[in-house]
Parts: sequence; C-alpha cells; structure tokens
Amino acid sequence: MSAAVRYYSKSGNTKAVADAIAEAAGVTAVSVDGQDAGIPEPVDVLFVGGAVYAYGIDRRLKEYLKTLRKGDAKRAVVFSTSWVSKHAISLIKKGLEDAGIPVVDDAFYVRNRPSDEQRKEAGAFAKKYL
Ligand SMILES: Cc1cc2nc3c(=O)[nH]c(=O)nc-3n(C[C@H](O)[C@H](O)[C@H](O)COP(=O)(O)O)c2cc1C
Repeated sequence: MSAAVRYYSKSGNTKAVADAIAEAAGVTAVSVDGQDAGIPEPVDVLFVGGAVYAYGIDRRLKEYLKTLRKGDAKRAVVFSTSWVSKHAISLIKKGLEDAGIPVVDDAFYVRNRPSDEQRKEAGAFAKKYL
C-alpha cells in the first residue's frame, strides 16, 4: 500500500504528528510549502495535517489543497493539532473533497504538541489505513 504524508506546521506540533505517521508508513512527511510537496505518483492513502490559526488553516495549506487532483490518492486521512478547536479537520476534509479525493470519517487530533504516547497513537492510527 503506497502512502504520502503532507502537512503544514508553524511551530512543530503538527509536524511531530506528521513525522510519527510517516514513520509508520515508511515515508517522509513533507511540508506543503516544500518543493517536493506535489504527489508525483498516485498513492493509496494520502495523510494531510494542519492546525487552526485564528479561525482557519494557513493559506499555504489552503492553496496546497487546491492543487490536489482526484487521481492523486484513492483516499485521504486527516490529522490536526490545535489549542482547542477541531475546525482544521473539517476545513482540510472539505479541501480534499473539493479536489475529488474521498476522505475517511475518522481523523487524528492532538491538543498542541504530541507526547511520546500520542506519537505512538498517531502511528497506530495511521496503520489502520495502510
Ligand atoms: C496565531 C495563532 C492562532 C491560533 N489560533 C487558534 C485558535 O483559534 N484555536 C485553537 O484551538 N488554537 C489556535 N492556535 C493554537 C495552534 O492551533 C496550536 O498551537 C497548534 O498545535 C499549532 O500547530 P503547529 O505547531 O503545527 O503550527 C493558534 C496558534 C497561533 C500561533
């Protein structure tokens, strides 16, 4: 099963979850503002993560979601961190669905920075879809 992990993280919390998911998937997590953020080959599962910054997701993640195409992934799985709001999950899901990529209902969420235990949980969560 092929996988890719894409995320946007300002202060590293979402990146820590992305890295745990990527490790479980045997790939490298790539920031959406990186040069290699595109999906060169279609994947079975695309993990996408982001956080809430004052009511919304960062514009870099918003713009990235617009570049995705239906054929890029068979399905997508969302993860997020924030102080309290889970709004990023629905915003990312909507961006993926607008791109035509089916999104699984369940999402992985951590309040701020994941603990070691939560990183393990992120890996276990990811494995359900691998
Ligand atoms: C400018 C700014 C605005 C934020 N606004 C919210 C918010 O409205 N609701 C919330 O729950 N968390 C908010 N947060 C907290 C972040 O979503 C949280 O710290 C998140 O884990 C950051 O992820 P990152 O380290 O991957 O950038 C905000 C953080 C920043 C820096």
